[in-house]
Amino acid sequence: MKQLQEKIASEGRVLSEDVLKVDSFLNHQIDPKLMQAIGEEFSRRFEHDGITKILTIESSGIAPAVMAGLIMGVPVVFARKRASLTLTEGLISADVKSFTKQTVNTISVSGDYVTSDDTLLIIDDFLANGQAALGLLDIAGRAGASVAGVGIVIEKGFQQGGKLLREQGVRVESLAIIDSLADGKATFREEAET
Ligand code: G4P
Ligand code: NA
Ligand code: NA
Repeated sequence: MKQLQEKIASEGRVLSEDVLKVDSFLNHQIDPKLMQAIGEEFSRRFEHDGITKILTIESSGIAPAVMAGLIMGVPVVFARKRASLTLTEGLISADVKSFTKQTVNTISVSGDYVTSDDTLLIIDDFLANGQAALGLLDIAGRAGASVAGVGIVIEKGFQQGGKLLREQGVRVESLAIIDSLADGKATFREEAET
């Protein structure tokens, strides 16, 4: 997605060979017009898949997921990373490992909102090692829901998540794929440019 690549090139900050900071439009301040274009692109890619609901994870997946949900006309459910005061019954949970922090976190959704009647589109902001996406796929499986695919805003193609998911037969649609963050600059994989 050209507009997204240009935004990453102009505003993204390469913090190291494997970390890209995009706080000005995705992870802290949010650019609603860009999120709308992202939502339109996800909608275009999944328009024939009978999506009934979008599943994402707090917090940075919510903005692109809500825009996609608005355009596709379906509700958006976000998995919670922390226990909620009011959301305690009928939870469906999965464990998510963090490679960077060497921790395991439990993520949860209510079984009221993800069911065996659903065909889900899973959306997240970043795909790195793929653990968050695997956790969301795990939740979908436990709920008996179908998953049409995973939509990612920025995939770091040099990390293992994309390979891991695709090898399991999961359809992954990434709007930008970064093959390298060497020399302080993001190099994009051309096939993701459409
Ligand atoms: P892991 O490699 O340690 O397993 O971590 P994982 O891929 O699950 O990513 C951990 C967090 O870091 C996620 O956000 C993910 O979106 C984010 N992340 C991974 N790589 C990058 C990167 O290069 N740049 C940025 N900006 N973020 C990255 P989170 O902690 O769940 O936070 P949030 O959704 O509340 O923002
Ligand atoms: Na995220
Ligand atoms: Na994040």
